Amino acid sequence: MERYAEFFAQPLGLFGAGARRKLMPHLRAFSPRRVLLCTDAGLMAAGIASEMEQLLRETAAVDVVVFDGVVANPTEPCVRQGVAMYKEHGCDMILSLGGGSAHDAAKAIALMAVHEGTVWDYVGLNKLRHPLPPLVAVNTTAGTGSDVTRFAVITHVEKRTKLTIVDRRLTPLIAVNDPELMVGLPPTVTVHTGIDALTHAVEAYLSRMATPLSDACALKAVKLIAEYLPRAYARGTDMTARAAMAYAQYLAGIATNNAGAGAVHAMAHQLGGFYNLPHGLCNAVLLPWVLEYNAAECAERLMRVGEAMRGPLAARSVLEGAQRAIEVVRDFERHLDVPNRLGLLDVKAEDMPAIAQQAMEDPTVLTNPRRATASDLEQILKAAL
Ligand SMILES: [Fe+2]
Repeated sequence: MERYAEFFAQPLGLFGAGARRKLMPHLRAFSPRRVLLCTDAGLMAAGIASEMEQLLRETAAVDVVVFDGVVANPTEPCVRQGVAMYKEHGCDMILSLGGGSAHDAAKAIALMAVHEGTVWDYVGLNKLRHPLPPLVAVNTTAGTGSDVTRFAVITHVEKRTKLTIVDRRLTPLIAVNDPELMVGLPPTVTVHTGIDALTHAVEAYLSRMATPLSDACALKAVKLIAEYLPRAYARGTDMTARAAMAYAQYLAGIATNNAGAGAVHAMAHQLGGFYNLPHGLCNAVLLPWVLEYNAAECAERLMRVGEAMRGPLAARSVLEGAQRAIEVVRDFERHLDVPNRLGLLDVKAEDMPAIAQQAMEDPTVLTNPRRATASDLEQILKAAL
């Protein structure tokens, strides 16, 4: 606790049913001429993007250009298309509407709107040179935390990996978490994104960079997710559960933004890039396996995670408590119908050495509580097959 630490959060978060409408007066602070609405074809088809477009035009009196070319696990060509549209139409602000893919794409578009070269030139920590146009993130999932974080994760198709740009200037200036936009989320996406948030909270809590501030956010997120994700999965229209999950993913985002993540994310980024799998699903399958690997190194903290999810664990020792906590996580995931093996996702054993090797390059591996080598990660992946 004595070591130097930094903590930051974004300037403004809006929560609760109807929060998207409350956003409009806040946009005046940026005096935008023309907003790029960065979203995907699914939200266009569902009418959610056109409702936002109308709100921007009629309530905020802002000109809007819609870019609906965001793909799941956004790629560099997707970013380039968005940048071309942003420049062609003389935009001066970006509003992303969607889940992590829309927000990450918007962050990279904002970056490349004012920087030279390609997006790959900015992979790593604090490589940005100029201020970005204002970013506002409106969430439709709960969630990746991308609405509140300084990370943009972009898929490198040729290298079959995901690369992360980390810079505080990528943080959206406003995040909107309106549960009314989340009621239509299908049950599997609810679970994948919800477990992504759980993984952010758990990895941040066990991280080498955890502080009392990130702990407070992480543990509260774990509690909320344990209580409300099963409800949101069982009945998507449960507004109390959707609203609670929106808060939970935000708290988990703040926690991971400050304390980092761990080996689950390091490997999930590779699996997602290699096989184009949903990020949250990769996390969900890997989480218990990585906890097994980490348990001895962070037993007491892991026990606290289990207690936050389930209450007292009746363990006779801290190590037993840590094992109980892993059982709690496995049990929680089983009830959400999450697959417990990578093999069920068509992941191939022969790819594991390359994936483990790539995961060592991912910045999230550095904050894992146990120092991992490529062969450690390969063993975890093989155990999880
Ligand atoms: Fe994540």
